[in-house]
Amino acid sequence: MPGDGIGNDVMEATKLVLDRLEFDAEYVQADIGWEFWCSEGEALPERTIQLLENVDAALFGAITSKPKEEAQAELAPELQSKNLTYQSPIVRLRQHFNLATNLRPCKAYPGNPLNYQEGIDLIVFRENTEDLYVGVEYHPVPESLSEELSKHPKWARFIERASLDDIAISLRINTRDGCRNIAKAAFEHAKTFGYPTVTIVEKPNVVRETSGLMVRTAREVAAEYPGIDLWETNIDAMCMWLVKNPQDYGVLVSSNMFGDIVSDLCAQLVGGLGFASSGNIGDKLGVFEPTHGSAPKYAGQYKTNPMAMILTSKLMLDWLGEKDEAERLESAVAKTIIEGKARTYDMGGTDSTLEVAEEVARNL
Ligand code: NAI
Ligand code: MG
Repeated sequence: MPGDGIGNDVMEATKLVLDRLEFDAEYVQADIGWEFWCSEGEALPERTIQLLENVDAALFGAITSKPKEEAQAELAPELQSKNLTYQSPIVRLRQHFNLATNLRPCKAYPGNPLNYQEGIDLIVFRENTEDLYVGVEYHPVPESLSEELSKHPKWARFIERASLDDIAISLRINTRDGCRNIAKAAFEHAKTFGYPTVTIVEKPNVVRETSGLMVRTAREVAAEYPGIDLWETNIDAMCMWLVKNPQDYGVLVSSNMFGDIVSDLCAQLVGGLGFASSGNIGDKLGVFEPTHGSAPKYAGQYKTNPMAMILTSKLMLDWLGEKDEAERLESAVAKTIIEGKARTYDMGGTDSTLEVAEEVARNL
């Protein structure tokens, strides 16, 4: 699923590298993105969902999305009157396939001029389907909800001072299963790849029930993994520690919003959008995507860095159990970075997306 804009450039580059790796796969191209919103009123057509039911894994480039008015204006004339609303295809994919685990590795490859420090090797496990992002929100607050909340002693402070029209509520909802799933994924990764610790990043001293459930559940999971320690930190302090001593940490685990925040911080420590890869993992399907978007101003120019997408395909290979190929690919990326013979503009070079991919392919 190359999608929109530079999604196509970096996908072409990655395909070139996977072919040279002789990765034995049949590729089926699937429709996703802005073009399909405009022509069909759906950025994730039903045929793409059907197709994904029958594949082993999916590689996704990037999509373009635009504010409400523009989305409406760009719809095909015959769809204008149909009262359609744009929905993010990647959010829909996460929900439809219950892609509950989001993983984001952040590794400082030696010689990368964009590294904040050498020796950083982090991976964030972020819960992908719950928490403050579930979309259960109220503004104004309904009368019936206010009545229910009046049973809570803290609610009085708000309704004494503000009308229900002037109060907004977003619910943070976390389940024991959701917490367990993400903690388990983090510990399994630590076990497989030999990390001695897993750090849980929450705020249980203040957000006692939701963050509390995450931490309590992580402790239970930790008990099943003798030899791997659970470190407990608060999100705010962790942001400081990560800037100060990023080398001290390995596997991080967090709920949806805190994981979102801390993973962007981690990505920037090792070079930012040109290097940030991610995977969305469900029971049956893994969808792998770079963190960056479609960068419309560079679309089709083969200017942007393919490393994020190439490292994304490395994650996919790991998940498919192709450990040797994943390692070969990562070594070739590392060699390309340290030699610095081919670099895109963000790394201070003048080479194209495909020239960098060619260099990675040579280094295989
Ligand atoms: P963006 O990530 O597309 O680009 C921001 C800037 O980062 C670019 O202008 C470029 O300077 C740099 N950049 C991005 N990828 C790069 C790469 N591989 N190599 C070198 N430099 C790179 O974010 P922006 O501009 O906020 O959004 C553009 C479009 O992408 C929007 O329509 C947005 O909705 C969409 N988007 C899609 C995402 C996805 O598909 N998962 C994620 C983020 C944004
Ligand atoms: Mg984010």
